[in-house]
Amino acid sequence: MVGSGGREHALVRALARTGWTVFAAPGNPGIATIADTRPIDMHDHAGMVDLVLGEDIDLVIIGPEAPLVAGLADVLRVAGVAVLGPSAEAARLEGSKAFAKEIMLASGVPTARSMTVTDVDSGMAAVADYGTPVAIKADGLAAGKGVVIAQDEAEARAALVMMLEDAVFGDAGLTVLVEEGLVGPEVSLLAISDGVAVARFPAARDYKPIGEGNTGPNTGGMGSVSPIPDIPDHLADELVETVHRPVIREMHRRGIPFNGVLYAGIMMTPSGPKVLEFNVRFGDPETQALLPRVEGDLGDILLAAASGGLADSPVTVSGEASVAVVLAAANYPGDPRTGDVISGIDDAMATGADVFQAGTALNAEGELVTAGGRVLAVQARGVTVEIARERAYAGADLVNFDGKQMRRDIAAGMDA
Ligand code: AMP
Ligand code: GLY
Repeated sequence: MVGSGGREHALVRALARTGWTVFAAPGNPGIATIADTRPIDMHDHAGMVDLVLGEDIDLVIIGPEAPLVAGLADVLRVAGVAVLGPSAEAARLEGSKAFAKEIMLASGVPTARSMTVTDVDSGMAAVADYGTPVAIKADGLAAGKGVVIAQDEAEARAALVMMLEDAVFGDAGLTVLVEEGLVGPEVSLLAISDGVAVARFPAARDYKPIGEGNTGPNTGGMGSVSPIPDIPDHLADELVETVHRPVIREMHRRGIPFNGVLYAGIMMTPSGPKVLEFNVRFGDPETQALLPRVEGDLGDILLAAASGGLADSPVTVSGEASVAVVLAAANYPGDPRTGDVISGIDDAMATGADVFQAGTALNAEGELVTAGGRVLAVQARGVTVEIARERAYAGADLVNFDGKQMRRDIAAGMDA
């Protein structure tokens, strides 16, 4: 398992539960309680190859996008190991929003109208064409911060200047996508592929803004839920045929087969579903809610996807709902405060909830302390979304650290 966040902790938990022996690089203190962690940087390709060969690893799962875009999957495949995660070329579906648009247009996937620009004047011409609100998106990876929804022309110009002239996102923002503003509920629909077959997970939703009622600046995600009652399974099946399958087919046709998790961020607009973005990996924090629902052996599914021969049918999941609530550090999503001592994880787990660590570390005294923006997620299941969320919050209330931030409205009001 490559990575060090809450998504990776949830993956390792699901694998450990069905008896897999897991190594994690670099992992985190939570992962270290259930896996053999090794302090190898995700961008140390030679170090990763040494670990894989030295420990006779059967399958490598690459969690985050950065090592995928940097080609870690290619290096490991050359070394002869099965890898869940796309090649650098296929990872451009996330690494370049312009490339993602090109693939969507070529495969007939519905998406917002957009224009790719490299100077402010051309950008403002597109803004005039689409009207406001309008989305201004850095082409490349920007740690989830590369999208500005501009409410008027002044905000649009400021965003274009920030990306194209002030180069706030470096090279990632020197090409910009100007996209018409859409409205509607959003859904995260993840599917796994071996390059040909497509196996979807149930629909999930994440809550990006820091504040309740979806107010304030965007974060990496403050909580997640699955299922979402407005996207029942038959609709999720339709979305896979409209979105994921045509993309997988087009990538295959181009000789850049997509092997891994294709995550579509879809907005359900009044004129139908429209794709806002692709990610080429499991979502964080969607994974923390999704994986506890999976029935059977997740490792077998991931290995089949990595080696070819994946079953072309949805992943089997429990009918129970699952909710994950993120606890964030003081000052997040600004520069988070670190070093606050965390208590109550064992108490939360004793209630039957699970706790997935993300931004945590051990201090010199061996205490678990905050070490990142999103510190951890508390997850629970229940026969309805409401019961799952009550359990998740009962657990989350038991975990404490100075400056703890938590939205109270994750998965609220969802049961029909
Ligand atoms: P992305 O990273 O592309 O998913 O964008 C981050 C968030 O910005 C999305 O989850 C949406 O809430 C919002 N967003 C992205 N594109 C648009 C759009 N064309 N219209 C309205 N909101 C958008
Ligand atoms: N939950 C959003 C993401 O994983 O990108």
